[in-house]
Amino acid sequence: MQDKTMEPIIDELHTLGDFIRWGASQFNKAQLFFGHGTDNAIDEAIVLVSHALHLPPEIPDILWHARLTYSEKLAVLECLNKRVQQRIPAPYITHEAWFAGLRFYVDQRVLIPRSPMAELIEQRIEPWIDANRVKQMLDLCTGSGCIAIASAMLAFPYAQIDAVDVSSEALEVAQQNIKRYGLEQRVQTVYSNLFSSLAGRHYDLIICNPPYADAQEMQAMPDEYQHEPRIGLEAGKDGLFLVGQILREAAQYLTPHGVLIVEVGLSQTRLIEQYPDVPFTWIDFQRGGEGVFLLTAEQLQLQESKL
Ligand SMILES: C[S@@+](CC[C@H](N)C(=O)[O-])C[C@H]1O[C@@H](n2cnc3c(N)ncnc32)[C@H](O)[C@@H]1O
Repeated sequence: MQDKTMEPIIDELHTLGDFIRWGASQFNKAQLFFGHGTDNAIDEAIVLVSHALHLPPEIPDILWHARLTYSEKLAVLECLNKRVQQRIPAPYITHEAWFAGLRFYVDQRVLIPRSPMAELIEQRIEPWIDANRVKQMLDLCTGSGCIAIASAMLAFPYAQIDAVDVSSEALEVAQQNIKRYGLEQRVQTVYSNLFSSLAGRHYDLIICNPPYADAQEMQAMPDEYQHEPRIGLEAGKDGLFLVGQILREAAQYLTPHGVLIVEVGLSQTRLIEQYPDVPFTWIDFQRGGEGVFLLTAEQLQLQESKL
């Protein structure tokens, strides 16, 4: 960043605290959207300033007054400016996102992990599932692989997990994350359009965070979302483009005691309208989030004719 307009700023700002404060003010002034890992300007500035300085985001108090070198100031300003001018979500700048307390590599080939299902995985899907009985699991629409990997690491020690996506670019990122956690023997990426390449496989648990934004939501999305892959967000006029197919086909791929969990976000209301007889269990989250339902294999089979 050799922008001449930045020279006065470089001379006026000195410490780590100065740059974090200034960055947060710029973010608020530019009315950035937060929600890809942080929910406010100060935390977002801490993430980006610490990243540019190769420091952990939990900056010890003693460093807030530490002065930056000239080249460090340039690196920090470049990072902050990228966020303001191009509206790039912070995780695509730092290439780091957190899910269920685990760190994932991300870039613009995958959606930034933020599903409330992290909480559910941390709780080993209790009380709906006996985690030790999960031997085969499917993470349908895996993106970065966050659900498959968090499930393997935190919830299901005995499970083999298929991580499925129709984007080969997303699967490259998922593979990178699987390797990072040394899970190559337990988590396999599979290229598949929903269930199309999974014939004959049966799972004790299917978790799916499909794209579910309807046309109106797509139009109203803040600029930050334009950097995410559309295939990870867009789901037709009513946001239920893939969910109907998942409901119709999932039972074939579940074991008799199996469970299906799907996130549909704001499309929850329309889903209930479309399938008034289906006994969805809607999951409550302590940390926020909504629109995640659970159905057992038995419930899906009983409803087969209505799906
Ligand atoms: C909302 S993202 C979820 C990513 C990740 N599971 C998460 O929770 O952050 C949806 C993912 O579904 C994938 N996808 C979209 N259509 C698909 C399809 N027909 N079959 C399989 N995957 C699909 C996209 O490529 C994207 O990676």
